[in-house]
Amino acid sequence: APAPAPGPKLLGFDAVPKSLADNVLVPAGYTASVLFALGDPMAAGVAAFKNDGTDTGFDQRAGDHHDGMEWFGLGADGRRNDSATERGLLGINHEATTDEKLSSFFLHADGGTSTLPRPAAEVDKEVDIHGVAVIEVAKTAGKWAYVPGSALNFRLTALTPIDIAGPARGHAQLVTKYSPQGTATRGTLNNCGTGKTPWGTFLTGEENWFGYFTRSATDDAARGNDKSVTSLRRYGRNQGAASRHGWETGGTADKYQRWNNSKTGTSADGSDDYRNEMNGFGYIVEADPYDKTRRAKKRTALGRFAHESAAFGKVVAGQPLTVYMGDDSRGEYIYKFVSNALWSDADANAADRLAVGDKYLDSGKLYVAKFNADGTGQWVELSLANSAIANYSAYKFADAGDIAINTRLAADAVGATKMDRPEWNAVNPANGEIYFTLTNNSNRSVNPTGSQYLPDAANPRAYTDMKGTSAQNGNPNGHLVRLKDGTANNFTWDVYLFGAEAGADGGMVNISALTAENDFSSPDGLVFSKATGICWIQTDDGAYTDVTNCMMLAAIPGQVGDGGKKTLSYTKADGSKLDVTTYVGKAATPSTLKRFLVGPKGCEITGMAETPDGKAIFVNIQHPGESTPMASVTDPTKYQSQWPANAGYGAGKRPRSATIVITKNDGGVIGS
Ligand code: FEO
Ligand code: CA
Ligand code: CA
Ligand code: CA
Repeated sequence: APAPAPGPKLLGFDAVPKSLADNVLVPAGYTASVLFALGDPMAAGVAAFKNDGTDTGFDQRAGDHHDGMEWFGLGADGRRNDSATERGLLGINHEATTDEKLSSFFLHADGGTSTLPRPAAEVDKEVDIHGVAVIEVAKTAGKWAYVPGSALNFRLTALTPIDIAGPARGHAQLVTKYSPQGTATRGTLNNCGTGKTPWGTFLTGEENWFGYFTRSATDDAARGNDKSVTSLRRYGRNQGAASRHGWETGGTADKYQRWNNSKTGTSADGSDDYRNEMNGFGYIVEADPYDKTRRAKKRTALGRFAHESAAFGKVVAGQPLTVYMGDDSRGEYIYKFVSNALWSDADANAADRLAVGDKYLDSGKLYVAKFNADGTGQWVELSLANSAIANYSAYKFADAGDIAINTRLAADAVGATKMDRPEWNAVNPANGEIYFTLTNNSNRSVNPTGSQYLPDAANPRAYTDMKGTSAQNGNPNGHLVRLKDGTANNFTWDVYLFGAEAGADGGMVNISALTAENDFSSPDGLVFSKATGICWIQTDDGAYTDVTNCMMLAAIPGQVGDGGKKTLSYTKADGSKLDVTTYVGKAATPSTLKRFLVGPKGCEITGMAETPDGKAIFVNIQHPGESTPMASVTDPTKYQSQWPANAGYGAGKRPRSATIVITKNDGGVIGS
């Protein structure tokens, strides 16, 4: 059993009430301040952000839709220092942008073009606001700020050159006009969850990258209906698919044409077009936050899917490293990577950090999770040694690189368990158990048709509305599942918490007994504090947003198996009964789960990083005002949100995604 958390009593703050206000609410005794918002300058000489749609040069400004985030300490010499608490770098994902009808409208003075072709200048801005930012932050005279002119700051955008590493490096399916050897690509996209390696580098997960590519309406035949068509369909690109922003229409230059994933050339291998371009996305990418001169690397051994976070299991000298990951789409899977190399403590402080990444992240075994109805599960290896993969009828795998690129198909072949959208995962430092948020899933159904499937033990709920009065379709509020690894690629699991509205039916919906102090819906961001052991849960919700904006809660979890069995009884449309038995964690109380923060209107709360002493945390407010109509872009009275302008931060009134910093007024640890 985990030892009790040392230090001050945790969750001693008063719960923040649910709120629809257009601001950030934190408990009494805490202060939240805006630190780094969309468009903020990141290099000396970059003009202040006007926030009226005329700004340019976003490859030297904060990107949009701040998401996952990690802290990297800096010493007085400006180099890595893991114990620093008042100076550091933040690695921040810039996932996407607030858009409607192709255009990222807050980025353009008049909202931009909503028809094709898109003007090059608009495309260039939109490409640059995606990717990653690394910025220096420091506490000076008691106040945190970012350092706009720091030489350590840098951006990765959707066009930055990045190397391909691991089993897919040099693969035929990665050959493009840009990289005829299949060893590089440009850019990282839709960066969502994050991770931090034991050797001090930043991991960023590429999530909904496929949506940025177009495919011609006749591309299946152009490809000779070969196996690449099976791959493209499995990753969400049927022929005729339109791209999210129409970037491929920005011009004839290569940097625009590369967003067209159709076969347009005549070469046998793709070296004269971008038919394989999309295969260069969908990975965990490793960047060295301390050295902007080093090219980032796509770690293909960790598989290709809609990546969220990458969380390391307990690091033990002489043992392999483990990395847990989720694939966030409806009915997708949970994965684990196990390195071939055994951990050496000397690597924690190596000078060449990316070489350490090569050692541990380029060769190993990739597993997918199967959850059993009895509370156990298996990790199934994805390799050609598994006959289910070698003999898979739907897709003929050529080699390990093919599995790294087409991981979802390999996981299909072994019959992995379809989950309710695995978002972030995080490892409890107290006992090594692995927590996953399963945000929601409209495809879960008691009467499945088409692409739907029945509730099962690990995804047991199917009900249409938050009260559970229509127990048939969907899991609108989501849940958190947790796993305890065994020694033989097996695990035990339970459902730690079920999202629900306080007062909803306790038998089918509010199984965790949530109250006004802690009810939530659609868990997404998930980070354990190494300083306090608090499990921070963040929401990205659409089901409860008539009552409250998205939020962050603090939890003190127990352990797998501390609740009991629970059976949910459904009546199917034909009158027959469906009983689903699951395993649940202990019911929540305000001393084990408490709401800590509620964000402004239209936002998602995501990303959490902390100083090692736990006295400052950094949180991202993603896409405030997301539901603003594009037609209202020049009329601030019609903005859904005016945050952070209404909090006194920056010029203009257009809403901006931003990083905030939270401190406790008495100087104590956050969450005490
Ligand atoms: Fe980018 Fe699945 O959240
Ligand atoms: Ca997410
Ligand atoms: Ca989400
Ligand atoms: Ca979002």
